[in-house]
Amino acid sequence: MLDKLLGYVSNKPEIYETSSSKFWDDEHISKGMLEAHLNPEWDAATRNHNFITKSVEWIASIANPVQYPELLDLGCGPGLYAERFHKSGYHVTGIDYSMRSIEYAINNAKTKDITITYKYQNYLNITYQEQFDVITLIYCDFSVMSKHDRTRLLNSIYQALKPSGKFILDVFTPQQYKDRKEAKDWDYNEGGFWSEKVHICLNSFYRYDESSTMLEQTVVITKDSIECYNLWDHTFIREELEEDLQQAGFTTVDFYGDVAGDVYKPDGNLMCAVAKKKGR
Ligand SMILES: C[S@@+](CC[C@H](N)C(=O)[O-])C[C@H]1O[C@@H](n2cnc3c(N)ncnc32)[C@H](O)[C@@H]1O
Repeated sequence: MLDKLLGYVSNKPEIYETSSSKFWDDEHISKGMLEAHLNPEWDAATRNHNFITKSVEWIASIANPVQYPELLDLGCGPGLYAERFHKSGYHVTGIDYSMRSIEYAINNAKTKDITITYKYQNYLNITYQEQFDVITLIYCDFSVMSKHDRTRLLNSIYQALKPSGKFILDVFTPQQYKDRKEAKDWDYNEGGFWSEKVHICLNSFYRYDESSTMLEQTVVITKDSIECYNLWDHTFIREELEEDLQQAGFTTVDFYGDVAGDVYKPDGNLMCAVAKKKGR
């Protein structure tokens, strides 16, 4: 146990070193995540529900569901956006690899008697060909992936869009971490977010400024286990995101301050890009 622990805490992890266990699809952690999604006031696993409603209205205004009917929501969670997209007039497919969230979304759609296609799948493995008019990836999920996975996903998204289709995503900028220094602390819990058992969390924040990437690491120690969760975040400047989208084939990229259509601010901590695929 001690060797394992020392392996996690004695060195700064290699960039994009993976977690030792599932995060979103973990039996216990996913309970806390679902609770965070469903709390209408929180901006934790998703944004507060008023913002989500505003965001869906804005997306429907820039990609009218009559002209752009087929929508794919990547990382749809329990379907908070998906249901609102459906209500706005889109035919919605939602993909997520949290079984707990997808089951919740499916049951909720059944109860409300609405038709949304939900899939329990890793969105890195999508293989659609020109099937969707709009694809969304919301709440900075693009930034948690390595460069290799980001490129792979952008190429798959480009293939999945019909000509003239739109891809909408948001990412954090370096402003988000401007004043944050590398730090370590620990806490003791008698059951909580990371584990239902008594546990100690060793928390570290690491900067990889040469790659504009940050790491929130939590090592969770219980009586009989040690798990290490590495949550990565690559921050983007506008030029880098534009270049990545163009390399995937997108011809036009418009920038906004958030996924509800706020104006783009060069010194903001967040930006949203709407990338358009060339028409026929
Ligand atoms: C931060 S939450 C955002 C959820 C939703 N987009 C929203 O804003 O309400 C990220 C979601 O993406 C899912 N997710 C993360 N990586 C994924 C992947 N590679 N494949 C499928 N789902 C993924 C997680 O399970 C989680 O539900």
